[in-house]
Amino acid sequence: MDLGIDGDAALVTAGTAGLGLASAEALARAGCDVAVCGRDEERLADAERRLESAGDGEVLGVSADITEGEEIEGFVGDAVRSFGGLDHVVTSAGGPPSGSFLEMDDEDWYRAYDLLVMSVVRTVRAAHPTLADDGGGTVVCITSRSVREVIDELVLSNAVRRGVIGLMKTLSREFAPAVRANAVLPGAHETGRIEELVEDAVERGDAETYEAGLADWADGIPLERVGDPTELGETVAWLSSERSSYVSGVAVPVDGGSTRSV
Ligand SMILES: NC(=O)c1ccc[n+]([C@@H]2O[C@H](COP(=O)([O-])OP(=O)(O)OC[C@H]3O[C@@H](n4cnc5c(N)ncnc54)[C@H](OP(=O)(O)O)[C@@H]3O)[C@@H](O)[C@H]2O)c1
Repeated sequence: MDLGIDGDAALVTAGTAGLGLASAEALARAGCDVAVCGRDEERLADAERRLESAGDGEVLGVSADITEGEEIEGFVGDAVRSFGGLDHVVTSAGGPPSGSFLEMDDEDWYRAYDLLVMSVVRTVRAAHPTLADDGGGTVVCITSRSVREVIDELVLSNAVRRGVIGLMKTLSREFAPAVRANAVLPGAHETGRIEELVEDAVERGDAETYEAGLADWADGIPLERVGDPTELGETVAWLSSERSSYVSGVAVPVDGGSTRSV
């Protein structure tokens, strides 16, 4: 399918691995110039190589920590200068630590807020002038199915991510009609983040082995498997594209059917 965004410019925060990288690759395949950021230099260089082979557009990798406001502004500014503007912003992040309510102190809550909510606020604020320039701008926030149904041992994700949904819905009204804003709610996709959560479950004794822990994640998913990150990335590219031109303000689960609420 022609997504109608060939030649557009896109930026993906925390886009050097996992769901962010899968989204950046899908946008590159659709013909976009793509900028990604992350902290680890080696991961950044690998991501640049993968993006260069995914499409014909320009690729920009920037070393930036999305919990630092100035680094986000620097990243957005570099992308705008390199590409001459931005049409699409995708926000991803690292995952907050797993654990229950009584295990979290104030610092944990504030760190999770900076990582998951303020990173989106700061990225969108920096990108807005160029996104709104000539219409057709999009924002897609990668969050989690935890905004619909809380997940045990993930209190920070359950509580803090809901702020992103309120923000996205507000942007879809305040920025219309020049910019559309949407979110995707991943279920379980096989990335480093899931590996980390499975390892935590093994450490806590909730699963005997890594394989058993991964099987637990697939348990209860109607499509009977954990998702491939590409399946999330393709949805992000579609929401960024002309093919979804009348879709704004929605939060789309990409979870193999596991969310029970309507
Ligand atoms: N995978 C899933 O099934 C799933 C399900 C629901 C929700 N999610 C959520 O979706 C988001 C992405 O998950 P993922 O599975 O793609 O994670 P991942 O595979 O661990 O990748 C995380 C990416 O974010 C970057 N990153 C982390 N912290 C950063 C920071 N402070 N500044 C800049 N970049 C940072 C990492 O690079 P560096 O470490 O080099 O910075 C890496 O590129 C997370 O918020 C996760 O909780 C994932």
